Amino acid sequence: MIRERVILITGANGEVGHGLIEALSAMPDQLPIVALDIKRLERPLRHLVKRTIIGDILNTELLESLDTEFEIDTIYHLAALLSTSSEFNPEGAHRVNVQGTINLLKLTVDQGVMRGAPVKFMYASSIASYGVPDLETKEAAGSVTEDQYLNPVTMYGCNKLYCEHLGRYYAERYRQLAASKAIGVDFRCVRFPGLISAMTVPTGGTSDYAPEMLHAAAQGKPYASFVRKDTTIPFMVMPDAIKALITLAQAPREKLSRYVYNVTSFSRSAEEFAKMVQSSFPGAQITFDPSDARQSIVDSWPAGLDDSAARQDWAWSPDYDADRAFHDYLAPTIVERYRETGEH
Ligand code: SER
Repeated sequence: MIRERVILITGANGEVGHGLIEALSAMPDQLPIVALDIKRLERPLRHLVKRTIIGDILNTELLESLDTEFEIDTIYHLAALLSTSSEFNPEGAHRVNVQGTINLLKLTVDQGVMRGAPVKFMYASSIASYGVPDLETKEAAGSVTEDQYLNPVTMYGCNKLYCEHLGRYYAERYRQLAASKAIGVDFRCVRFPGLISAMTVPTGGTSDYAPEMLHAAAQGKPYASFVRKDTTIPFMVMPDAIKALITLAQAPREKLSRYVYNVTSFSRSAEEFAKMVQSSFPGAQITFDPSDARQSIVDSWPAGLDDSAARQDWAWSPDYDADRAFHDYLAPTIVERYRETGEH
């Protein structure tokens, strides 16, 4: 039996999954995609992938069947419960975010053993891995490197930071006491800022006030932000997030000096973001009604990310600064999106 060579995407129906499937399937000479998600892949994406599997990354029998059927070239592991959802079910979040990741790392090891070389494991981590202690420190810290302020305050952030460490372990030290050196994984991780897509609204995140503001405005609906006006974190639009994942996946391993890379595009306060939304959608009704609990989560995230390691090692550079993000991507694409779906 010849196993077909594929790319596996977990969390394929999530917002990063949407963008990644579109981008990968448009690239010449790309391998077919196997899309795994607990929800059915949305219809417009289905013809872009070889197989859609509705299933859970906690189902090890399912993962074993993938191991048998496919030769997996690269895994993009995107499935996760985001930071707000995770606070309503921390133990469930730990299972999905950590045990799910271990299950996929094990699948990657098994694939590597059959291939005789480590297989690529692309991991989407998050600004939630950070935890700055207070607003004074946040202001003084500015843009933080990958190794600063790693005291996450959410279950999701703890899970993401721990999985970054697991990736390093599986890459360097997996079964380190075995008689002969075990094959591990080629682990590569992007630590994302808040992501904004014109096509999808995220579910269960705490940076969601920004995309929610924008999507409400595009639909002519009022929006009350759950964070204060001065709240500042870094953001990136979805095409740049996809670019980061694909560029890091394509980088020669020997150029990579680390496993985890910050990437960022622009930092804005919630008020500045609201003004940009209003400049694209004049008359958008945006108010501020902070929720203490969610506010304190966003306050623990840094105001900026230092992405110089990514710039240096794999020539990372975002295509969209804030102006381009709004004028060339978000505003025109979102208008088209709601015109097509008629969701007003
Ligand atoms: N957008 C994510 C969240 O808010 C952060 O990675 O949970």
